[in-house]
Parts: sequence; C-alpha cells; structure tokens
Amino acid sequence: MDLSHLNTFIHVAKTGNISQSAKMLGVPQPTLSRHITQLEHTLGQKLIDRQHRPIKLTPAGNFFYQHAKKNLHELTELITLTKNFGKSTPNTLNIGFVASILYGLLPDVISELRTRLPHLDIRLIEVSSDEQTHALKTGEIDVGFGRFLSSQAFIQQLFLRHEQLVVALPTQHQLAKNHSMTFEALSNEMLILYHRTPMLLSTGQTFDPLLHLFYERHLTPKHTQKVRDIQVALGLVSAGEGITIVPMSLKGIHQDKITYLPFSPNDITSSIYLNTLSGDQNPNILALLKSIHTIYEQKNITQTNPLLQNL
Ligand code: BEZ
Repeated sequence: MDLSHLNTFIHVAKTGNISQSAKMLGVPQPTLSRHITQLEHTLGQKLIDRQHRPIKLTPAGNFFYQHAKKNLHELTELITLTKNFGKSTPNTLNIGFVASILYGLLPDVISELRTRLPHLDIRLIEVSSDEQTHALKTGEIDVGFGRFLSSQAFIQQLFLRHEQLVVALPTQHQLAKNHSMTFEALSNEMLILYHRTPMLLSTGQTFDPLLHLFYERHLTPKHTQKVRDIQVALGLVSAGEGITIVPMSLKGIHQDKITYLPFSPNDITSSIYLNTLSGDQNPNILALLKSIHTIYEQKNITQTNPLLQNL
C-alpha cells in the first residue's frame, strides 16, 4: 500500500472535499481521485460515496479513516525514527534529567558509569519529563530520567524506585516545630507550585502534581503561587514566602533556613523512571543500568524491578 495514497485519503476524509484537498496537496484532481480508487481496489471496499455532495465516507471508509489517521501518524514517526536509528556516536551517551533527580543519586550513578566506561563521553542535559519524549525521538538524548508515566508510542519506561516526598517549611514557621505533617494542616498555607507540565490521569484530566496530592484527599490549598522550577520554589520557602513539597533527596538545600518534615502517614512518594526509545539496544544504556544496580546495592535500596535485579 502506497503511504502517499493513504495520506491523500485521510486529507480528503478530513476536508470532505476532493477539489479542496487536491489544491492543498498540490496534486491534480484526477490524480488524487485515481489514488483513492487505487486504495479502494487494494482494500476491496468503497471508501467514499462520490454521489453525495459534499462527499461522504462509506461505513467502511469511516472505519478505515478512524484507524488509519492514528496509525499513519505513528508510521510516519516510525519512518523518521528508523532513518535516525543508531546514528548517535557510539562513544557518547546523552542523558536527560529533571532538576529534582540531580540532587539524588544521579551524581553517584554517573561517577560509577565513568569508572565502568572511562572512555565514554557522558553529557548531562536538563530536560523536563514531558520534553524527554520528544528529545528521545529526535536523538537529542539517548536516555532520560523523569518522574512521570507517559503512554507515548515508541517510548519505554523502566520504573526504578519510589522516593519519599517531604514538606519544606521555613524554619521559623510554627508548623516546623512538628515531627510530621498532614495535608489538612498544610491546606491553609501558601503552597508554592513548580512543575512545568501537568500530570495526565487515565481519565484524560490534567492536574498540577502537587495540587493533585490535595485533591486526592478532597482538600484544596487556600493560596498557591507558581514558579519556574524547584530551586526557585525552595528559594521562596527559605525566604519565608510559603511551603512546598519535594522529593527527600532535596533535603540538603537551604538547610539552615528550611525544615523538611515527613508526611503522616509516611507513604507519599514520587516515582523515578528511566526513559528510552522502545527496543533501543544501545550497550551504553545497559552499562548505565548496571551502574544504577551497583549504586542501589551500595545504598541498600530495594530493587523491585526484575530487570534491575537480574543484571
Ligand atoms: C535515583 O535517585 O534513584 C536515581 C537518580 C538518577 C539516576 C538513577 C537513579
């Protein structure tokens, strides 16, 4: 089946007008009609009711259109990905990461990888969880560390671990005298939000990840302020401007001015994922996984993912 014929059909189905599509695609109208007829011959089905004005899809045409438009997009992406496949320099590993990962085990993992592969040129690039998908597809990064699940075609996510979330409060705040914190107690405070992209739920709804923690408990913070990133959020907390919620590995930042408290109950976590293109067998990524495995062993971190356990 000719991809350009498929593309033509999808265009006509969208516009509902053969001559308009011919003009927009820059193809003479008889050629466009012939392409659709050839597609109909291949499928053994009439796709368009040409008697109808404006033209109308037949039931088979409508069925084909609904599925073809999604698959053509993926197929076009697949063609680009395959053309670029394996073009990254074998001795380079471009690693994308979200800012909060930098304060955790990333430096340990990178230094272990440098010992394992001394000649590998490792480049670290800050890329938000959301942008990592695009950066992987364009080859800007070979691998990414992020905190959110995505269900994008051609992207594979390997769950690494759950990291505990803690509340960051100005040390002079009266709530900072507590040993632990509840969401109820926090809902009257100024909550500083810092995520650049909202989280997508299976229902299709999107939420700011910190606000979602409150909504899940049927609470809404009274006051919120949005800033550019997690470092700015912690800067504002240290200046006494509000409170925020961060992964535990950020506990060292502004320690003199910020008190970090666990939640009660202490079961609020953020997941860490390793993102790659599906089916990418880059040996440097395998070496990176082995480095993560080694660091987790050194730090006594339980490895629940069988892929990590069996390295
Ligand atoms: C971690 O904190 O578990 C982690 C961070 C970066 C790379 C791998 C693991």
